Order: sequence, then structure tokens, then C-alpha cells
Amino acid sequence: MSPGATRSGPGGPGPTPPIGVFDSGLGGLTVLRSIIDLLPDEPLLYFGDTGRFPYGPKPHDEVRRYALEIADLLVARDAKLLVVACNSATAVALDVLRDRLEIPVLGVIEPGLAAAARATRTGRVGVIGTVGTIASGAYQRAADALADPIDLTCAACPGFVEFVESGDVHSDQVHVLAERLLAPVRAAEVDTLVLGCTHYPLLARTIGDVMGPDVVLISSADETAFSVRALVDAHGLAAPPAPPDAPARHGFVTSGDTATFRALGTRFLGPEVDAVEAWSWT
Ligand code: DGL
Repeated sequence: MSPGATRSGPGGPGPTPPIGVFDSGLGGLTVLRSIIDLLPDEPLLYFGDTGRFPYGPKPHDEVRRYALEIADLLVARDAKLLVVACNSATAVALDVLRDRLEIPVLGVIEPGLAAAARATRTGRVGVIGTVGTIASGAYQRAADALADPIDLTCAACPGFVEFVESGDVHSDQVHVLAERLLAPVRAAEVDTLVLGCTHYPLLARTIGDVMGPDVVLISSADETAFSVRALVDAHGLAAPPAPPDAPARHGFVTSGDTATFRALGTRFLGPEVDAVEAWSWT
């Protein structure tokens, strides 16, 4: 453990170095779920920057600064690998994080887009994300780098993240907003839609209802988890098998309200969210 670092609260990771995972709030828990399911022996340390969400509408350099601050915090707590479980931060900060950190860093854009490229039958793929992610052009750049070209239609969905963070994922209001925001990808007749924000899988029912049953929804969560496994193996970072009576423990830290994080985190992730540590940036 690094000098001066402290462990997260009770229930946090034990002596095995954790995989650090962060998002602007609760959305990254969709990625965390997939990592827990695929790599049950790995302790995870999750940071939700709920006190500063949403990232999507903020200037890119501000989001980049937030990402670096959180990365420093997670590295100080011994993270052996960093997962940027946020498209908005991946879009603008992945390169600088990889340059600055000595641990492997993984984002969520490439894994999700690669899955969409495999799934599409027509080559018409949609991506929905925050204003920051879509405006960054990161998905278009990732699509241009694919071996087989796809026809990408991107649409920003301002407002979706706020609904998720308030715990409202199925109301009529969300549905009405989805009808309006998804109009461009419906008009483009995509057969595959990338949920290019880690909050959006929590809206999958509403998004699926609006898009119709013929459109495949791609969450980057599972694909990212497979990439995490590959990276852990490639760097020889795998945790020792956890004994059945002492499963891997996970830590949760938020810059927002801990009670809200715990309540919604338990609903969205499951019982793994027990103790939640408060973090203040001041
Ligand atoms: N979950 C995030 C993403 O994947 C961030 C959303 C936000 O804070 O605006 O983009």
C-alpha cells in the first residue's frame, strides 16, 4: 500500500490490491456488475463522483482534471489497474491517464463499439451518449479505426443521466424524453445501438421500448469486463482465488450523499454495496 494511503471504509477491499473503477456517479456500477460476475475473485474499489456529476455537459478540460484527481486517489489506495467506467471521461481523458499513470488503464468506448461492429447485420450502428461524449468525436474516431467500416449515427441524450441519478428509470417522463432524443437514431434505421454512457443500461427497458425489438442494444459493460480480464491476465495481476467463506470484498466511495448512493447503488448493483465512504474534494 502506498505511503499515506488509507483503506476505504468497513467492507472495503482487504490486503489484495483492488481494481479501481470510477464514474461521475452510479452509471459505472453497470460496468462493476459485469466485472464482479466475470472476475469474482477480484476486489474492486469504486469511486462515484456524484458530488460533481453530471460530466456530460462540462468542458472537456474540467472532466479531464476530475479524471486525474480520481485516478490519483485510487492509485493512492493501491489500485493495480484503472477502469474508466464513464464514456464522457474516456472520451477526453483516456490518453492523458495512460500517459501519466504507471498502471494499466482501460476505457469503455472501444470495447462497446467493437461489440456493436460484431453485432450489426446492416452496418448501420447508432451511438447515444452525453453531450460531451458525442461532441468529442471519440466514437467516430474509434469507428474510423475499425477494420470493417460501419455507418455511425450519433445522438446526444441530455437529461437521461439526471433521471438515473434520481432513481427514475421507467416513468412516463423518461419515455417521452426518450421518444424525442432517440428520433435521429430511429430515423437512421440503425439495427444496433451502443449505449455510449454507462448510466444508460439502467434505462434499457425504456430505450428498448422506443427503439423496438429489432434493434440490438449494446452495453459496454460486459465487453469492458472481458477486456479487464484480458488486461489482468496479460500483466500477471490476477488476485489469488478467494476462499468460499471469504469472498472478494469491494469498496465504495462517493463525493455525494452516501445514503442516496447506498440506496440507489444497492438497487442498481445489488447487495455488494454495503458500507459507502464519504469523500470531500475540499
Ligand atoms: N456515466 C457517464 C458516461 O458514461 C457520465 C454521465 C455524466 O455524468 O454526464 O458518460
